[in-house]
Amino acid sequence: CGIIARVGEDDALGEILAGLRTLEYRGYDSAGVAVRSDDGLGVCKREGETDALDAALVGRDLSGSVGIGHTRWSTHGPPSDANAHPHTDADERVAVVHNGIIRNYESLRRELREEGYRFTSETDTEVVPHLVARELDAGTDAETAFRSAVDQLEGSYALAMVVADEDAVYATRHGSPLVLGIGDDARYLASDVPAFVEFTDRVVYLEDDDVVILDDDGHRIATIDGGPVERETETVGWTAGDARKGVYSHFMRKEIDEQPTSLRQTIEGRIGDEAALDAFPPGALADVETVVFVACGTSYHAAMYGSVLLRRRGIFATAMRANEFAHDPTPLSDRTLVVAVTQSGETADTLASLRVANASPARTLAVTNVIGSSAAREADDAVFIRAGPEIGVAATKTFSSQVATLSLFANRLECDGAGIGTALGREEIGDRDTAVGLDASADRDTAANSDRSADSDAAEGTIAARRATDGGTVSDAMRALPDDVATVVADDGAARLAERYTDADSYFFIGRGVGYPVALEGALKFKEITYEHAEGFAAGELKHGPLALVTPSTVVVAVFTGRDDERTLHNVREAQSRGAPIVGVGPESATEVRDAVDQYLSFPDTDPELAGILANVHLQLLAYHAAEIRDRAIDKPRNLAKSVTVE
Ligand code: G6P
Repeated sequence: CGIIARVGEDDALGEILAGLRTLEYRGYDSAGVAVRSDDGLGVCKREGETDALDAALVGRDLSGSVGIGHTRWSTHGPPSDANAHPHTDADERVAVVHNGIIRNYESLRRELREEGYRFTSETDTEVVPHLVARELDAGTDAETAFRSAVDQLEGSYALAMVVADEDAVYATRHGSPLVLGIGDDARYLASDVPAFVEFTDRVVYLEDDDVVILDDDGHRIATIDGGPVERETETVGWTAGDARKGVYSHFMRKEIDEQPTSLRQTIEGRIGDEAALDAFPPGALADVETVVFVACGTSYHAAMYGSVLLRRRGIFATAMRANEFAHDPTPLSDRTLVVAVTQSGETADTLASLRVANASPARTLAVTNVIGSSAAREADDAVFIRAGPEIGVAATKTFSSQVATLSLFANRLECDGAGIGTALGREEIGDRDTAVGLDASADRDTAANSDRSADSDAAEGTIAARRATDGGTVSDAMRALPDDVATVVADDGAARLAERYTDADSYFFIGRGVGYPVALEGALKFKEITYEHAEGFAAGELKHGPLALVTPSTVVVAVFTGRDDERTLHNVREAQSRGAPIVGVGPESATEVRDAVDQYLSFPDTDPELAGILANVHLQLLAYHAAEIRDRAIDKPRNLAKSVTVE
């Protein structure tokens, strides 16, 4: 859900509605506003997207300089006018918007009902205005009533409240995001900066249990008990244009096209510079033996990708879905680094995992796009992916930036000599009899201080060195990555393909190594926005079950990276011999692959470790065009929200 509040000198409604439209990526099954004027509170809310709210507002006079707004992603109670926020007490003295879950709402509701408070929705939120009303009935002022109501809540919440007889907004947060925006003539509160970045770029990232009061005098931040709180004001680097569609018909397409730029931002100043990854001075990661990634959705696929890169460097790494890890964590020690990968930094499942890790001896790191997010603040360290705001629900540019960041991070861990394992290089896996293990731990003492020139690396026998002597390093490939992505975006070969395969029953995506998480991500993107059945598989796993489903109506999309391609080609042939049409996605120079498949989407030759990013851009475009043909709600697919702040 997304919330916004605004207190200023002139009418609030226009800015609140503009904010809600920007916040729709957080939920869009209903929307509502409450504006305060001398006549009391004017409340309007509707099931559906903000357009439905706009229509309902025609002919209504909701003038007033103070107001709140909400766009909802249902958790308690289906989408309906009654369940839409804001929620009020029976007399409309109090209106509240809420993001999160109030866990003890059933007992509070029972108690309030017994006292005669009448409920009109199925939501957990509605207890809040009634709790405040009960305090007001007892003669307390609005601020005390708000504090007292909040004190009784258990769960996670960001809350904003207006009352009928004051030009003020009362707000707080506990486990759900809330940012204060400080404009020249107005103050704002919102779940996320894009909601008000058009009006101000000066922000205060609030902490859990801060209580904020916006009124004619500006803003006040206090503790729940009323004690003063000082919070730093920061200037965000985003512009209003970053959060607008501009000439594009969809944010998703805009964000796909932005990837050369967002990747440049991600890697700027971070390649080949030992201190490049903000949080970590050289050697800071030398003690890390194992890395556990926790993440959800697209971020989980980026985390999987990162885990492959680390394992190739001799560092034991695994990626776990945060919703599993939070309740069934792997063993953690003080030599474990738990890395939470989360674009928003607010995904409840991922934060729950982070809290489990924080309570263990392990170190924690957040890899996120949002400065000031809960993940960034709660982890021991944070590395920012610098992708700029992403509005489309289907994550695109943030995946690329996450993977690029994790690749740089893998290099840093390798430089610091982290890990205890033996990484088997390509040749070793191919020919185990002659395998020479790469003992990263043996390098540890020297690695942090060594001049990692190609020659000395070659002597040490690292993977990076072998690549360097093969002509070209990951760093070279990383430098070229933004331009390579630009080539893929300009080619847009998927536009020609999407039309061809509209009648298929299923779409299978396969890959190995870094191509495996890319296959999973390709399938996720495809199912999210086309609503077609799509699944991702490890290429070698196809024959262990999924092949039973393959028919001439199954389109198989195979990801090639320039590493182990011949093996993936075997798997392709398994599907081909069952009549499946094959779309290959791989390097330009992979002629054998190109000849074997029905359609080929190529990208510039690059290091196989980064090839997955380029392949994925083709898959983003494939999903986009397939969804466009089917006339789907690309930026707001049904039942989904960009940032899921409930477990
Ligand atoms: C939601 C979104 C996904 C996203 C996932 C994780 O499920 O619909 O697109 O990948 O959350 O989000 P995060 O902000 O943690 O990366």
